[in-house]
Amino acid sequence: MIKKFLMTPGPTQIPPQVLLAMARPIIHHRTAEYSELFARVNDNLKYVFQTKNEVLSFASSGTGGMESAVVNLCSPGDRVLVAAAGKFGERWRDLAQAYGLGCECLEYEYGQPVDPAGIGRSLDADPGIRAVFVTHSETSTGVVNDMQAIGAAVAGHPAVLVSDSISGMGSAEIRTDEWSVDVVVAGSQKALMIPPGMAFVSVSEKAWALAERSKSPKFYFDWLKARKGLSQPQPQPTTAFTPAVSLVVGLDAALSLIREEGLENLFARHIVLGRACRAAVKALGLELFSPDGDRSSSVTAVRVPEGIEDGRLRTLMRDKFGVQLAGGQGPVKGRIFRIGHCGYYNYTDIIVTITALELALKELGHPVEPGAGIAAAEKIFAGSLA
Ligand SMILES: Cc1ncc(COP(=O)(O)O)c(C=O)c1O
Repeated sequence: MIKKFLMTPGPTQIPPQVLLAMARPIIHHRTAEYSELFARVNDNLKYVFQTKNEVLSFASSGTGGMESAVVNLCSPGDRVLVAAAGKFGERWRDLAQAYGLGCECLEYEYGQPVDPAGIGRSLDADPGIRAVFVTHSETSTGVVNDMQAIGAAVAGHPAVLVSDSISGMGSAEIRTDEWSVDVVVAGSQKALMIPPGMAFVSVSEKAWALAERSKSPKFYFDWLKARKGLSQPQPQPTTAFTPAVSLVVGLDAALSLIREEGLENLFARHIVLGRACRAAVKALGLELFSPDGDRSSSVTAVRVPEGIEDGRLRTLMRDKFGVQLAGGQGPVKGRIFRIGHCGYYNYTDIIVTITALELALKELGHPVEPGAGIAAAEKIFAGSLA
């Protein structure tokens, strides 16, 4: 019998409370019952986003939320700045180019963080830049960027700051208002603990002013339509178009779990998961690709050891031991594998994953000391669960 453990950075494991909520008979979305639930969800989203701004929701994957930011903040010909250090940073550049924006792209090596001072210098050199697009948790490398420093570098400039926090929201802290992040995009299938299919976008006053002037073509992703849905007469709040009702019901349950745990505990748990994972990987003699620091609390990226084929390792882990990991993307495809621990994860998941990793490496002929990784992880957990 194989018991499955989904250890990818999206989709992620879903709590049974959420699965049960989503199994309830569907309700209609133009009713007081739905609006009451949606109002609670919106309040709880503000709590997780750490913002007083409205958080808009769309029935799309996370990329839809990113695209909505590009088309609502900018008009064709506008100049924007992208800071990219991985696959998802590059997505901002690709989106900007698809909509005919003039895009300056600060590119950093995969595995490196973006440099907040570099962003500040680019803005000083070109005060006409409309928006700065960055990735909070770069899922392709395991790097979490310093959003506080990036916020400080952009503050005082006319540009708005937009963060792709699709894998970071709910696993690596982002204080939206305190750190002056104008637009934050999140996705449903990561630390928000529901299946794929929803994107969430918080919008500051400064960003609304741009949205009211933007001339890019848009329809479904028009933020003004979404805002109207939040404030129109009864039943309200609602969405302009049919929402993903069952996902919203699941989100309500997931956000209650987050409220119950509290943001402080939630971030502390993710930091410990990252620490344990990194300690285990190092104890097995493997090399980390993501930085060895507490900021890397969403994903642990590991270099595939010499002589091992990444595809064989991950297939063996999945098919024999039930543990699904993610591979590398772009230029690091085949060179790294990634362990996702954003969302519904605790120490048991890490112990199982490391056990499977040890067994799989051994089976593929890579020298490992059985139990070395688990012992290292256990030491971290022993200190933190006390
Ligand atoms: C940081 C980041 N940005 C963007 C995306 C794209 O999201 P989606 O695949 O939901 O469109 C992902 C998904 O893995 C992500 O982790």
